[in-house]
Parts: sequence; C-alpha cells; structure tokens
Amino acid sequence: MSVPAPVRLCGIRKVFFPGTPNEVVALAGIDLAVPAGQFVSIIGSNGSGKSTLLNAVAGTFSLTTGKVLLGERDVTKQAEHVRSRTIGRVFQDPRAGTAPSMTIEENLAISLLRTKRSGLRRGVTSARRAVMRTQLSRLGMGLEDRLRAQVNKLSGGQRQAMSLLMATIAEPSLLLLDEHTAALDPKVAATIMELTAQLVTERGLTTLMVTHNMELALRYGDRLIMMHAGRVVLDLDAEQKATLKVGDLIEKFHAVAGEAFAVDRMLLD
Ligand SMILES: Nc1ncnc2c1ncn2[C@@H]1O[C@H](COP(=O)(O)OP(=O)(O)O)[C@@H](O)[C@H]1O
Ligand SMILES: [Mg+2]
Repeated sequence: MSVPAPVRLCGIRKVFFPGTPNEVVALAGIDLAVPAGQFVSIIGSNGSGKSTLLNAVAGTFSLTTGKVLLGERDVTKQAEHVRSRTIGRVFQDPRAGTAPSMTIEENLAISLLRTKRSGLRRGVTSARRAVMRTQLSRLGMGLEDRLRAQVNKLSGGQRQAMSLLMATIAEPSLLLLDEHTAALDPKVAATIMELTAQLVTERGLTTLMVTHNMELALRYGDRLIMMHAGRVVLDLDAEQKATLKVGDLIEKFHAVAGEAFAVDRMLLD
C-alpha cells in the first residue's frame, strides 16, 4: 500500500522524431506541481499533449528534457514497469485495463499483488477473495457474485468499472485517467464517473484525469488545467472553477488558442 503522493513536473519537454521532417513537439515545456490528494481535470483540443503528459508521468518514454518527481523521489529515469507499482492507470479502451481470458478474481489478484516487489505468492486466497467481494459490491453491478467469470464476458461498462477498481485497489500513490469514460455510452459513462469521484475522494488519491468533456472537467476535480500545443494555458483552482460555465471555458480557449482555432466538436461532447 502506498500513500497518495505529490507530483512535480519540472520543465518537461517531449519531442517525437527530433531533427526529422516528422518532428513533433508534443510537450513544449511544462511546469506543474500537484499536491498530494489533489484531483486535477485536464482538458484541451486533440493533439494538445494530454496523453503525452500522462505518459511522461507514467514513464512510457524518456523525456527530451525535464524532471518528474513523485513524492520525494526523482523518477525521471525510472522504468515504466517500476513506476507502475505505485501508479494506477485507466485508459479509454475498456479492454486495456484487464486481462480478457482471466477471471474477475484473477485480474483483481494481480492488482492486489502489483505493488509487492516479489509478487511470487500469486493466486486467490480466501482473505483476498473477501476484499475483492467487498470492493466489487460497491460497483453495484453484481460482479461480487461472478468472481469466476471471465472478464471478456463482461460489458464495456463493467470492464471499465473493473479497470478502475484494479487501478485503485492497491491504493496507488497516483491515479492517471485518460478519457476513461469517452468510449462508453452516456449513462454508463456517468456511472463510471460517479464511481471515480467516490473512489478518488474517499481515498484522497492524487489524480490526473484527462477528459474531452468540459462539463465533466468543471463538475469533477478540485483543479482544472487546459492544454494547448504542448503547454498549460489555463490553470484554475476549485474556487475559480466553481463559478465557470462551459461557455466561459470555450471563451478562454479561444482567447489562448486564437480565433483561428475552432474548438473541435469532441471538446463539447
Ligand atoms: N508515440 C508517439 N510518436 C509520435 N508522435 C506522437 C506520439 N504520441 C503522441 N504524438 C504526437 O504528439 C502530439 C500530442 O499527442 P497526444 O498527447 O496524444 O494529444 P492528446 O492526448 O491531447 O490528443 C500529437 O501531435 C501526436 O500526434
Ligand atoms: Mg489523448
């Protein structure tokens, strides 16, 4: 088990294919300090660098320049699989977070063991099973009675609920959510979002949540960050956020991005 950690990004740049005609400056110098337990919503148009930012924190690639600090630790050079012991992630695709041919209990057992360095005692003990039942029952999807069901038999919403549970069950020091409700139908998406807020709030998780949905970004989280062209162009605290409407956000987006940039439709979903 770990404790929610602060995250600090210092002068982060990520250039893909540097020095070639395909060069892309995905992150153009980002400084960001997120205190322990803060729930940050991140919005921005397509290609503005939101996923790259989360990948930089998770260690998916090496940075062009800059540093990532997780808690007291400089993790810039730490491999992704090492960081993943304390970083929980949920992606857009409900299939990404779970092993399809394994059962619900096998999937959850892997998550429970993930943070242990020598996760050799695998398997599902009765103590672990009790923890799983309790956790699953709060999803309100009846999965606690289907521990031996294969995950690929579940619906997209159920799988995403499982992904969320798996990302948080071992109490990560940081939770990264990359448009994790975008592929679900609206009603299921709302359920998953509510569940997310509950889990994050009650465990006080440090959370970075990318969303295309301005409405969600305003409603959830205690800070809102807008990205554009690899930079943070707007950073609002809970108080500032509370008085804003989607229309105000769009106006601010236009102000920073210039009128030439139409807000893409996805931003308004
Ligand atoms: N692995 C990669 N290789 C090359 N270019 C990438 C890679 N990942 C992202 N990019 C580019 O970096 C930019 C930012 O992408 P991304 O972070 O995925 O944007 P967002 O999540 O905000 O839509 C885009 O121009 C994208 O094409
Ligand atoms: Mg993305």
